[in-house]
Amino acid sequence: MGIDLEDLKERAAAEIKSCVSLSSLEELRVRYAGKKSVLSAALRGMKDIPESERPAYGKKVNEIRDFLTAAIGEKERELKSSGKEERLKSEAADLTLPGKKKPVGALHPITRTYYEIRDIFVSMGFDVKDGPEVELDKYNFEMLNIPKDHPARDMQDTFYISEKVLLRTHTSPVQIRTMLREKPPIRMICPGRVYRSDDPDATHSPVFHQIEGLVVAEGISFAHLKSTLDLFLKELYGEETKTKFRPGHFPFTEPSAEVDATCAKCGGKGCGVCKGTGMIEVLGCGMVHPQVLRVCGIDPQIYSGFAFGMGLDRVTSIKYGITDIRLFFENDVRFLTQFR
Ligand code: PHE
Repeated sequence: MGIDLEDLKERAAAEIKSCVSLSSLEELRVRYAGKKSVLSAALRGMKDIPESERPAYGKKVNEIRDFLTAAIGEKERELKSSGKEERLKSEAADLTLPGKKKPVGALHPITRTYYEIRDIFVSMGFDVKDGPEVELDKYNFEMLNIPKDHPARDMQDTFYISEKVLLRTHTSPVQIRTMLREKPPIRMICPGRVYRSDDPDATHSPVFHQIEGLVVAEGISFAHLKSTLDLFLKELYGEETKTKFRPGHFPFTEPSAEVDATCAKCGGKGCGVCKGTGMIEVLGCGMVHPQVLRVCGIDPQIYSGFAFGMGLDRVTSIKYGITDIRLFFENDVRFLTQFR
């Protein structure tokens, strides 16, 4: 007697239908449709069946095997495709999500202005020098022709560290340090922080920034000073910029001048920044005082020079329309990130 083929078919079909993984489906394939399956065993056991029934029995076995093979194939496709869908779903990336932003730093506006100014002077052949912020009274005042009782010392209210040491009130002591160290020809600029004991408000800060310039060589005249600064200001503010040299006074230069340039904000028409004049004061300058050359060991009979100094905070405020210089020192990123 053979096995109950109908019962086998039903059981196998039910198992295939409820199968949930490709590996258990593979076991079912071995059990029902492979060479060692119950169906193959049934074909091998045909000899026990009466001869007249054999063709129908054989046909039935083959039909069931074809049916189960097809059912397994279909289940396999089903499992593969649903697995793929699941995988795609779990691995899906939402390309419409905004990316993760990495905060990137930016240069401080004062640094940007300094770089611009530095590049102009370096292109004219100037070196860049550095000097200490904690300075000797001797270099900050005395050797710059500002003796102890000089009224200029009242103008520059100073932070003293001791009787002879102070926080430099301007970058001019770097002129002295350079002339003591180097022989002419000298052509240098020097940026840096300077200190004056002012109460902070929109236009004053106890710490601010200057950039100094010094040229010493044989035959340097006021014409060199004028043309250098005129060219510099045209490079900084634009070709159309006009400059005006007004007489001024600094103890370490003679003659001295203050320089106005066309207001960068209104282009000379007159606005709030230049108080309607169309011009704005940008720097102080003059021919190096012979006495200053002398105390630095440079013979004023042979050499002459010019010097200039300007406030970086002021140049930057005008450039970006900043009305409160305290913003430069507060390091508020909402302010700083505007300068990129
Ligand atoms: N040191 C001067 C100041 O602080 C500026 C200056 C520098 C003027 C060099 C003339 C020459 O105001």
